[in-house]
Amino acid sequence: MSDLDNPVKNCDPFKPYKGRLQAYERIPENGRDQAAIIQELQTVSEEENVKWNTGRVSGTFYHAGDEHRAFLNKVFSFFSHVNTIQFDLCPSMAKFESEIISMTANLLHGDASKAQHPEDQVCGTVTSGGSESIAMALKVYRDKARAEKGIIAPEIIMPKTAHPAFSKAGQYFGIKIIEVPVDPPDFRVDPCRVEEQINANTVAVVGSAGNYPYGLIDPLEALSEIAIKRGIWFHVDGCLGGFILPWIERLGFEVPPFDFRLPGLTSMSADTHKFGYALKGTSVVLYRNKDFRRYQYFSFPDWPGGIYASPTAAGSRSGGLSAAAWAAMVYLGEEGYLKAAAAIMQVAEGIRKGVESIPELKLIGNPTFIISFRSDEVDVYHVNDFMKIKGWRFNCLQLPPALHFCVTLPQTLMPGLAGEFVEDLNAGVQYAKNNAGKPAQSSALYGLAGSAEGNQAVNDLLCGVFDHMYSI
Ligand SMILES: Cc1ncc(COP(=O)(O)O)c(C=O)c1O
Repeated sequence: MSDLDNPVKNCDPFKPYKGRLQAYERIPENGRDQAAIIQELQTVSEEENVKWNTGRVSGTFYHAGDEHRAFLNKVFSFFSHVNTIQFDLCPSMAKFESEIISMTANLLHGDASKAQHPEDQVCGTVTSGGSESIAMALKVYRDKARAEKGIIAPEIIMPKTAHPAFSKAGQYFGIKIIEVPVDPPDFRVDPCRVEEQINANTVAVVGSAGNYPYGLIDPLEALSEIAIKRGIWFHVDGCLGGFILPWIERLGFEVPPFDFRLPGLTSMSADTHKFGYALKGTSVVLYRNKDFRRYQYFSFPDWPGGIYASPTAAGSRSGGLSAAAWAAMVYLGEEGYLKAAAAIMQVAEGIRKGVESIPELKLIGNPTFIISFRSDEVDVYHVNDFMKIKGWRFNCLQLPPALHFCVTLPQTLMPGLAGEFVEDLNAGVQYAKNNAGKPAQSSALYGLAGSAEGNQAVNDLLCGVFDHMYSI
């Protein structure tokens, strides 16, 4: 009997393998058999894949099918051992990364060939993910503002709906982040309220295309104008939308300008590891020109180990990931990305119409690939409790309570999924009505956040969760 057949199951959701698989506190004295390791990991992987292969999990898996993944894994294997930072030894890295950046810039209307001078070309770097791309842009603004404007207490203004990666980078780099609330009915930031926050320390303003909570595109044209008028820089976070909005636009859906067509835009993040359908671990940060990018680079000549330099926050990175991102882009081509976006929008439109047909629910904004809704009549967290039983995994939103479902490719592989979604959602609303007045399971944590004390309680709880996760 293998460890995996052990019927003793652990009900701790973070430790389901406890008592089922051997736990290693130290490196085993004698190595294990490769075939046994493979078998064990294959079983675990297949068990976990079942959870989202149903298409009932929002976002998370930007998966373009088993064949696509097998192809990327093969590409990865050729360069898994290569360090991108050693492009002198492996010039393939310079090829992959320069072409990923160029393809992304072109997709986002930063066509280098249109620049009058090479120094004015849109440029960028490949990073390990959206958070790093955002962090790099913020570091650039902090350092450029210090060097060129003498600003030593930099501030960045963003809508409350911008991703926490901005606050994280602000904390890491000592940049004050000013959040501007978004309000009903459309839950998009009011550009005038952004402008009111600008002062002598403001270095940049941020907008999303689209934002994580609602998938909505901020009023970027207005933010771009404000940035130009007030002489500040402007980052658009396209981590989520950067690799799908261009195709949705080409399909004829209404999408306002969100990229380098905006004259005030000075940097943009776009994740290859989301709707670029690459392996997890790559993103692109783009800059209007090399003057910005230069502030991202780190070099340290004065070191006994030699002269050190790195273009991004990471030191070593696996060349396999960059090779796979490059391969995903050239394999899918415009045709493949368009086909994927069309399939996603078909499901998203079905879900959107379903939500609109339920009188108790209120759609938030004018969505594309993320459908979010709230309610004045039922507790949406009750709806979530019911949908969970049916195998659906939403993203729970707060301030105000709402739910979102992000359509990715796994949903498109399940015929009739939108219909099932709407049927279950109707039943979920009925369940919420029947349970009105009782506390919903999903709201346990969300009720806490929003006050200093509550936030502290949530912080403590989350630290406990991480500690538990890292315990054997
Ligand atoms: C809009 C947006 N920006 C940034 C990020 C951060 O990306 P990552 O998780 O790759 O660091 C996300 C992740 O979901 C996102 O949705």
